[in-house]
Amino acid sequence: MKSRWWQQAVVYQIYPRSFMDTDGDGVGDLPGILARLDYLAWLGVDVLWLCPIYRSPNDDNGYDISDYCAIMAEFGTMADFERLLAAAHRRGMRVILDLVINHTSDEHPWFVESRSSRDNPKRDWYIWRDGRNGGPPNNWESIFRGPAWEHDAATDQWYLHLFTRRQPDLDWENPAVRAAIHAMMRWWLDTGVDGFRIDAITHIRKAPGLPDMPNPQGLAQVAAYPYHMNVAGILDYVDELIRATLAGRDAMTVGEANGIGPDAAEEWVGATRGRLSMILQFEHWHLWSNAPQAALDVMALRRILGRWQRALHGRGWNALYLENHDLPRVASRWGDPQRHPRESATALATMYFLMEGTPFIYQGQELGLANAGFASLADFQDSFAHNRIAEMRASGMSEDAILDEMRRTGRDTSRTPMPWDDGPHGGFTTGTPWLAAHQDARRLNVALQQADETSVLNHYRALIALRRREPVLIHGRYTELAMRSTRIYAYTRGEGSERIAVMCNLSGRPATFRHAGFALDSGGLLLANGPVAPHGPRHVLSLAPWEARVYRAATAS
Ligand code: NOJ
Repeated sequence: MKSRWWQQAVVYQIYPRSFMDTDGDGVGDLPGILARLDYLAWLGVDVLWLCPIYRSPNDDNGYDISDYCAIMAEFGTMADFERLLAAAHRRGMRVILDLVINHTSDEHPWFVESRSSRDNPKRDWYIWRDGRNGGPPNNWESIFRGPAWEHDAATDQWYLHLFTRRQPDLDWENPAVRAAIHAMMRWWLDTGVDGFRIDAITHIRKAPGLPDMPNPQGLAQVAAYPYHMNVAGILDYVDELIRATLAGRDAMTVGEANGIGPDAAEEWVGATRGRLSMILQFEHWHLWSNAPQAALDVMALRRILGRWQRALHGRGWNALYLENHDLPRVASRWGDPQRHPRESATALATMYFLMEGTPFIYQGQELGLANAGFASLADFQDSFAHNRIAEMRASGMSEDAILDEMRRTGRDTSRTPMPWDDGPHGGFTTGTPWLAAHQDARRLNVALQQADETSVLNHYRALIALRRREPVLIHGRYTELAMRSTRIYAYTRGEGSERIAVMCNLSGRPATFRHAGFALDSGGLLLANGPVAPHGPRHVLSLAPWEARVYRAATAS
């Protein structure tokens, strides 16, 4: 298989609102990203994924777009974007945009027209239906809580919104909608962007007739939505989109793909299919969100990630991630920020980063940040959070219990401003940040960690450099070791004398690694997250709590 540039790459996800503010309004901006490009180059990342930067009323922090071809005023101008793109390209970095095409903002001119009358030519650009028995057209619930339908009094019909009521779903059955989206994508590609992360791609097709369905319970985005997620025929839309926009261009695409399992993944990202470069799968996310109070189940994690590794080896490509802007910090979900903050963050990092696939780092993850420690429910800004808080209040939960729940599971927990130094608000802004600065900004910021060789940040930097140095870490086969261990996640990449072994103790207790196939000696140590005493060839290693080591396992025995 010919290696593609995005297979060699490491992606860094930027949440522009919280990355760097240069004009003192408390909101990050494009000149802020430009100002920090040298940091990103120092870290060694290759691709910047910018969360939505388009004009938006910010009901969902930019995932509600009112003009696809304009920049959000708080973030700057199109000239700022062009400068940023050129500067990134000069440093050899690429830039991909977040493409939100399942829905628009209710302020998008298409929707303003669509809602203006039943016979407006844009009426059928969105999904309008008559009500049923005085209520919504069907029983669907929004992924963000409450009914998925909003009544429009002026025209006495309801429109569908799978996310907030200010994010009406486009009707992808309408060829004019698809053509407009394709034209917009071509426009961005022509400006020089290097690809897209495609938001909610598995939701764009709805089942004909929009039948009632059992609504999932629990945390949003964790369960099946049979009639609006991965509905049969969805790949026709994807094929058409690729043909109309990306064909013949060397762009990277990564689809946000809730509902796709490893068995179906090849259809989406198979090397011979010509569809997407990779998808962001949700199965290890659900491992956490189905039991957010539980400790990490190493066996279950290995089962999930291992299936993805095996399913796509030599056939497609994986996106590797632990964090994003929709998830609480992995340090709080699966690590131990109280007793082993540095070790647990670096062990988790080592575990996922050296698998086969393109690793993604979400801003602040490389500092080992834990969840933001919000003091009160009033600190939560996310509209999804507001819906959940209202729902929990209505169910009679106490304010303390709700705060506890939101501090563990809310999306704001990972959206706090990036801590750059130990100045006010972590050096993010000279004004008042839109979301309170992280409680650990003084001790876990970029400046301090750059200077500390043992920091989480320098461990990420070393992982990136190692992946770049060792070709076997790009395409080598993944083979699990210590398969019955409930603490150690270990695997090799590659075969025979070209083999690298990755061993991570993902628990707060010592653990023993035994393997018969090859010996490991400290001469072949490539990376570790703590001191390793020199040792000769061994088949048994004791790993301290949250210890991670990477060896060249060339020695046959
Ligand atoms: C997924 C995005 O990652 C999330 O932040 C957003 O709220 C929804 N899609 C709706 O666009």
